[in-house]
Amino acid sequence: MSAVLDSASSTSTFDIRPLHDSLGAEVVGLDLSRPLSDADFARIHRAHLDHHVLVFRDQRITPAEHVAFSRRFGPLQIHVLKDFQLAGHPEILIVSNIKNDDGKPIGLGDAGYFWHSDLSYKAVPSLGSLLHAQELPSEGGDTLFANQHAAWDELPEALKNAVGGLQAEHSYLARYEELRQRSPWRPKLTEAQLAEVIPAVHPVVRTHPETGRKALFVSEHFTTRIVGLPEDESRALLAELFAHSVQDRFVYRHRWQPHDLVFWDNRSVMHLAAGTPDHLRRRLNRTTVEGDLPF
Ligand code: SIN
Repeated sequence: MSAVLDSASSTSTFDIRPLHDSLGAEVVGLDLSRPLSDADFARIHRAHLDHHVLVFRDQRITPAEHVAFSRRFGPLQIHVLKDFQLAGHPEILIVSNIKNDDGKPIGLGDAGYFWHSDLSYKAVPSLGSLLHAQELPSEGGDTLFANQHAAWDELPEALKNAVGGLQAEHSYLARYEELRQRSPWRPKLTEAQLAEVIPAVHPVVRTHPETGRKALFVSEHFTTRIVGLPEDESRALLAELFAHSVQDRFVYRHRWQPHDLVFWDNRSVMHLAAGTPDHLRRRLNRTTVEGDLPF
């Protein structure tokens, strides 16, 4: 760790370097195992709002430190798939393609198989997620992030007018069975779990509560229909929005380095796991910070 603590101000010197034209910046020289001063926290908070995805390099932090840093941004949300909680840390969801000797998955291996914003199926979706690399494959395993402010800004005017006031339904179950058929990671949900994932309705275009910027807020993973439209029209409009929202120019591709901690804004970006070859191991720990009611 190369953080230098300035004893006079109790702030550390660290760099924030943009990674891409549209989104993403890396934070170099900050050690998140130490408590952040208010000034450092304010700088990180600002950078997160400006760049939407922050990559904190070389974070040799414990799960408890990961949770503590995440909590500075708000209360944490517990994922419905409790089988994949890290022991002793219910706030951490293990994202992994690794199986135990008995063949049981240790984490959710197909998290991010479709583009999505985390927990958009909740009445109160997520502010942001923090994913910490534990074990990385020698190839593959990238995560893609798409800037939904840019997607909204560049939406053709006619489409902007068409979707401006619309609401859409988001459901955790939208593609659950499809994923369950093709992978060993998804258990059959219990009645208690089903009660945790009642579908939610949100604006198709949301306003970021801290910056006031508009963003598209529909995803191929969780958005099931546009409220009030006939089914075929709803399907066609959503397909058009999905295709528009993840074009290359809006996307930053994150190639993981050991000990990266990536913190993205679920109000501004969607993300996708690009996939890991089956014979290679990948394991990361994720926390999810609660946001507010989209408007
Ligand atoms: C996720 O969707 O939270 C996981 C993304 C990834 O595994 O790259």
